[in-house]
Amino acid sequence: MSIPVYKFDAVVVGAGGAGLRSAIQLSEAGQKTAVLSKVFPTRSHTVAAQGGVAASLGNSEEDNWRWHMYDTVKGSDWLGDQDSIEFMCKKAVEAVVDLEHYGMPFDRVDNGKIYQRPFGGHMSNFGEKPVRRACAAADRTGHAMLHAMYQRNVKANTQFFVEWMALDLIRDREGVVVGVTAMEMETGQIVAFHARAVIFATGGSGRIFASSTNAFINTGDGLGMAARAGIPLEDMEFWQFHPTGVAGAGVLITEGVRGEGGILRNADKERFMERYAPNAKDLASRDVVSRAMTTEIKEGRGCGPNKDYVLLDITHLDPATIMKRLPGIREISIQFAGVDPIKEPIPVVPTCHYQMGGIPTSYDGRVVGAGNAVVPGFYAAGECACASVHGANRLGTNSLLDLLVFGKSAGDSAVEDLKKGAAHRDLPADAVDASLARVEAINNRTGGVSVFDARQAISRTMQDHAGVFRFADLLQKGAAQILEVEKTVRNLEIKDKSQVWNTARVEALETENLIEVAKATMISAEARKESRGAHVRDDAPDTPEFPNGRNDKEWLKHTLWHRDGNRIEYKPVRLDPLTVETVALKTRSY
Ligand code: FUM
Repeated sequence: MSIPVYKFDAVVVGAGGAGLRSAIQLSEAGQKTAVLSKVFPTRSHTVAAQGGVAASLGNSEEDNWRWHMYDTVKGSDWLGDQDSIEFMCKKAVEAVVDLEHYGMPFDRVDNGKIYQRPFGGHMSNFGEKPVRRACAAADRTGHAMLHAMYQRNVKANTQFFVEWMALDLIRDREGVVVGVTAMEMETGQIVAFHARAVIFATGGSGRIFASSTNAFINTGDGLGMAARAGIPLEDMEFWQFHPTGVAGAGVLITEGVRGEGGILRNADKERFMERYAPNAKDLASRDVVSRAMTTEIKEGRGCGPNKDYVLLDITHLDPATIMKRLPGIREISIQFAGVDPIKEPIPVVPTCHYQMGGIPTSYDGRVVGAGNAVVPGFYAAGECACASVHGANRLGTNSLLDLLVFGKSAGDSAVEDLKKGAAHRDLPADAVDASLARVEAINNRTGGVSVFDARQAISRTMQDHAGVFRFADLLQKGAAQILEVEKTVRNLEIKDKSQVWNTARVEALETENLIEVAKATMISAEARKESRGAHVRDDAPDTPEFPNGRNDKEWLKHTLWHRDGNRIEYKPVRLDPLTVETVALKTRSY
């Protein structure tokens, strides 16, 4: 079958922060650039980032990138690659200044400088006390960022393909990436985008869990495409549960609330974080706070009729501060929890928020595939990528920083390679066959499994077997169960064939991506027999030999999951930074 071929220098898949940032570099360098997005760019999930972007500007108190680097390595429980972490923390100030120049409306302090608030795990002087490092536009930082960068792209003539879903990566016989296949969601038309550089910026996959702060579009499309194209996924066992999702709804309540002075309380009104993190208290890193909350609930000190949430209290703050710094949070609390936080505390529970792992890249945004070899023509940035700066646990506001710094470096690397490069390489004769076959199968199957049922099976399996605390027997069962669920995903049927807008078809294709992420997560998590960061297992407890259950002798290494045979291999953590000394291993406490 012949299908249309659209030719560009570069194709960026995803129009959230990372995609927009890389597209600016490409378009401003004169490269003909297409950006594909399932939603209008300013509705990408970056829009939901609330509290800020980390950069050691030192606007309100002393700060510097070395303290930021130390906090990030410590936050990662030493699994982060220290070359990438140094690169990111050093580039942070420049990344924020770029946004200033794009017109981003940051909040200001009295002298006109950018407003900064404290966030979990960000400390001054190598872990001494919380520092104001999160640069904020009220509690709508991601929203403001997307608008600023979208407009900059419009000015630079980036070509947007809105409501297009990428289906598969196209690699030629030599393994070089030469494009992607994609479907226009309105018409169902499938097209090959033929390019000399492909950048994945497809965001996260938090929809593999039943309770998630993630948008419905976060279905791991980039990870599914990469895995099908033979690229391993790195450190997929590490998932962040944000401490403060609205109980019962999952909607994010920014950590910036605690940065502004909010306090977590149990049913006895106790500020329980004082027991778990005597120094940082409510501003300890997210894995620590989420586990503390879960322990409070498990031990019967949860709130409400079912004792299944804790309270986030800001009733002691000046209402004017809440209205100025946290207006969106007040709105969310009223809408989703039915409480006005000026008068009453907000019911919250830990909720799946962020994947620390992803498509392996180096800090220049180039994808590093099987055999640790760079995949020519392929770049990735943002939550779908693993540079790896977050290791086993990400610090809040380092996600927006990650997508800016690595979005830019992926764009810069692509421009560098494009400038060296020759003409487009040929598309292989079978470039679109796999995508067409998948879509055809979904269109025509009868007697199969409904997309709704398959998705429920994925998200329940993940929620029940790979949550905040993990148990050896549940991990084993979960790994076996997810392979059974995969069989149903291979047999998806669109039940209502008369539906319009191709919505059901898109959801089926997304489900084929979700299952790849779910398998990678369960199998990698079952295999890692230690506790580290967000991955805490009952059979790897805190002991004098292995404080916090972390076993550096055997497990200071990255996991690589290969779709082919669900094979796991490991590769070393890059402990050497670029210019400074290594942040030496030590036990993590806050
Ligand atoms: O809590 C928040 O505002 C979320 C920020 C982040 O995930 O970095």
